[in-house]
Amino acid sequence: MTVTESVAARGIVALDVPDRAAAARLVDRLGDACDFYKVGLELYTAEGPDVVRWLRGLGKDVFLDLKFHDIPNTVRGACRSAARLGVRLATVHAYGGPAMLAAAVDGAGDQGDADGCGILAVSVLTSHSADDLSAAVGRPIADVTTEVLRLAGLARAAGTHGLVCSGHEAAAVRAVHGGALAPLVPGVRLSGDAAHDQARVVTPEGAVAAGARYVVLGRTVTAAPDPVAAMAAARAALALRGAAEHGGLHDGPKPI
Ligand code: C5P
Repeated sequence: MTVTESVAARGIVALDVPDRAAAARLVDRLGDACDFYKVGLELYTAEGPDVVRWLRGLGKDVFLDLKFHDIPNTVRGACRSAARLGVRLATVHAYGGPAMLAAAVDGAGDQGDADGCGILAVSVLTSHSADDLSAAVGRPIADVTTEVLRLAGLARAAGTHGLVCSGHEAAAVRAVHGGALAPLVPGVRLSGDAAHDQARVVTPEGAVAAGARYVVLGRTVTAAPDPVAAMAAARAALALRGAAEHGGLHDGPKPI
């Protein structure tokens, strides 16, 4: 029984740690309980592509969350490099605009193997409230969901595999885009956990009920007193019904 076959959404543990030794301790500890890891800015900047090769060598899927945002040609090349490295999911900022999003999809599709790398467009960071977002973009944004849906439209038109959004917007994204855009939800907390710096958190059950296809499990697992027990609790929640009602697991432009 693999995680992909048995659950409504795939859990991706965020390796938000400073180096490979710390990552290895976490990966060893979680063992077969996790088959999908997120490599983000901290770990990638410290260890480079070798950390992705190491995870791939262990048979783990890798989500490279470097949130590219540059001119289209540069992002095309970066996504091509990610795909050739064996990355399964990679992020780019939706605020990069239509041409950059299309270039990302184009680059990721040029990796020369059958597995494929899905591009996820980051909509509004889960650490942003409506006030933070208004200050950042320089115009009043009263409703984050409306802004997320606007960005989702850009992402879909460019052919991205999915969209990164909080659990508070995932249901609206599913309602408008169905299976055409796979929601990845970060900012997930087991019930009773601290929100930390996140403004828009949900429980794993809430994320699945909203139609998440991927759920990023960060400090709620990695900083738990017992990460194995926390992962088991998250996996139990992710096995609940939900995704099928929103278009199923194997929808979207690229099956992952
Ligand atoms: O520990 P916590 O669950 O808050 O970590 C969330 C993870 O998801 C971090 O690795 C963060 O970079 C990532 N993320 C996020 N919001 C986004 C995209 C990614 O929190 N919009």
